[in-house]
Amino acid sequence: MRLDELTRADFPILDRIVNGRRLVYLDSAASSQRPRSVIEAMARYYEQNHANVHRSIHTLGEEATELYELARDRVQRFIGAPTREEVVFTRGTTDGLGLIAETIGRTLQRGDEIIVTELEHHSNLIPWQLVARDRGAVVKAVPVRADGTLDLDALDRLLGPRTRVLAFAHVSNVLGTINPVVDMVRRARRVGALTVVDGAQAVPHLRLDMSALECDFYVFSAHKMLGPTGIGVMYGRRAVLDSLEPGTPPIAEAVGLTAAVEYYEKLNMDRVAEHEAALAARAVTGLGAIPGVTVYGPPAGVPRGAVVAFAMDGLHLHDVAALLDADGIAVRAGHHCAMPLMRCLGVVGTSRASFSVYTSPEEIELFLDAVAGLRAKL
Ligand SMILES: Cc1ncc(COP(=O)(O)O)c(C=O)c1O
Repeated sequence: MRLDELTRADFPILDRIVNGRRLVYLDSAASSQRPRSVIEAMARYYEQNHANVHRSIHTLGEEATELYELARDRVQRFIGAPTREEVVFTRGTTDGLGLIAETIGRTLQRGDEIIVTELEHHSNLIPWQLVARDRGAVVKAVPVRADGTLDLDALDRLLGPRTRVLAFAHVSNVLGTINPVVDMVRRARRVGALTVVDGAQAVPHLRLDMSALECDFYVFSAHKMLGPTGIGVMYGRRAVLDSLEPGTPPIAEAVGLTAAVEYYEKLNMDRVAEHEAALAARAVTGLGAIPGVTVYGPPAGVPRGAVVAFAMDGLHLHDVAALLDADGIAVRAGHHCAMPLMRCLGVVGTSRASFSVYTSPEEIELFLDAVAGLRAKL
């Protein structure tokens, strides 16, 4: 059975009627939907187990602590982290990257260099610009080539004795480019730089193994991977992490995250990757065949994440999204919080369709027909 057929009934929101049509949700990169098991796990927790964690010795306090710590174990297994202590819960990717930048920032000296890439989400750019400004450090960016891949020769030229950090996205939220993490981490390590990977668009899509990636930090959000809003994960070396987790943590959200991870594990991440890659490949070739449509990112045939950004001649990106919404099809339109990349592409923004486990091939065809229909009306 196809993955979307297997999962569809688990996502009640997909039965919504929007503007008279059954919802086609192609905005999972911004935030995915959640299966019933996640919603129910959180409700069950609030109904049965809630108390604060790591402080109360009464029964509920212990149950809540156990459930919270179980989330750490599940995430550790899911991402292949060597130890459970290296999994820290944050509020999300932005929060995690901010904490890392702040912590590393304290150690930076005037003239130190931070390397990012031109395809970063603002979450992995602005915190570095801020610490660079405060510490007198310099931010440099690895250029993106015309085919959507990073210029790794340029990375080698940028890396040097003053490089302290290389921070980059695993998968681009606009281009869908899958960056070669292991290769980039090794290049950075040669000059003794720390590596920080923004995994927001990779974790929902690819099987991960932190031991194999060898990076120092890896960050992601639960709400893009079938889990709740308000919680994310920062994987990192223990020495740097110890001081970063005060206060009452997001407990019910951790319970929801456990359910999301268990859902993915039941599906099998290799199958998830295969399903979403097939959807993305069809969307890339289908959009590419519509006259006047530009598709951004790696060309057809090259592996990419579960996102396809595009533009239509003669139609503003917001009109594309509004007209598709009138057909019940939800896509994102905007700069996707990646302004430097928009400048490289020479556009103010793009439209973007993105996919998850529940997205069906039929929905991709509906989307392609709708885009072709917009062209025909111009
Ligand atoms: C690559 C990437 N990084 C960071 C973020 C920010 O994630 P959050 O809003 O969950 O902090 C996003 C969200 O769109 C993203 O796609």
